[in-house]
Amino acid sequence: LQPKPLAGRRVVVTAGPTFEAIDPVRGITNLSSGKMGFAIARAAREAGADVTLVAGPVHQPTPRGVGRVDVQSAREMLDATVAAAAQADVFVATAAVADWRPSAPSRDKIKKTEGGAPPQLAFTENPDILKTIAQGERARSGRLFCVGFAAESRDLAANAQAKRERKGVPLLVGNIGPATFGRDDNELLLVDAQGTRPLPRASKRDLARTLVAEIASRLPRTA
Ligand code: C5P
Repeated sequence: LQPKPLAGRRVVVTAGPTFEAIDPVRGITNLSSGKMGFAIARAAREAGADVTLVAGPVHQPTPRGVGRVDVQSAREMLDATVAAAAQADVFVATAAVADWRPSAPSRDKIKKTEGGAPPQLAFTENPDILKTIAQGERARSGRLFCVGFAAESRDLAANAQAKRERKGVPLLVGNIGPATFGRDDNELLLVDAQGTRPLPRASKRDLARTLVAEIASRLPRTA
């Protein structure tokens, strides 16, 4: 019997969108379904890893054996991810984190007044979770292998390579083609320092297995 490729390893995955409050009943989010991240968490667990899945607001069942932390905002996702990544060997950032949040969410529901002007929203940039973790001591000392995702609408290979370097991660996964959100299949492009390699269209479940095997093959040997 072959030992499972991620046995004894801790993996952290972020998945889904974030939700940034405008007031107690309104907010800003995006169309990420969380399917890719949940599939990766499941595949990592099947490969023997101890998996923590940090999930934004999604409607996905928790994969069997996976520890799940539900969060709303990017800042909550950052805190949960930093805590989990402190012990981890692998971090996979699939979440579609909101780039901005309303600067001053209202404590009370914003009321519509007859003839009144619509509210004006000011925005603040959210923390970059992947970049924060990739720049941390654990990643920089080679104990934490970080993987990013990219959804680019044009020049995927070039943009993904630039993004990989900007984020400071050894492996970045590009979504090929538009509108992967909510679909059960996908087509990916692996981007590392050596170059690019496409993973042809397949179910997110199968792609997740391939990606997990790929990550496992890149980890430093354990003593
Ligand atoms: O810069 P961009 O959002 O295109 O980068 C995408 C990658 O960075 C994904 O892996 C995503 O999960 C991660 N990311 C993040 N925190 C952000 C923005 C993106 O972790 N605030």
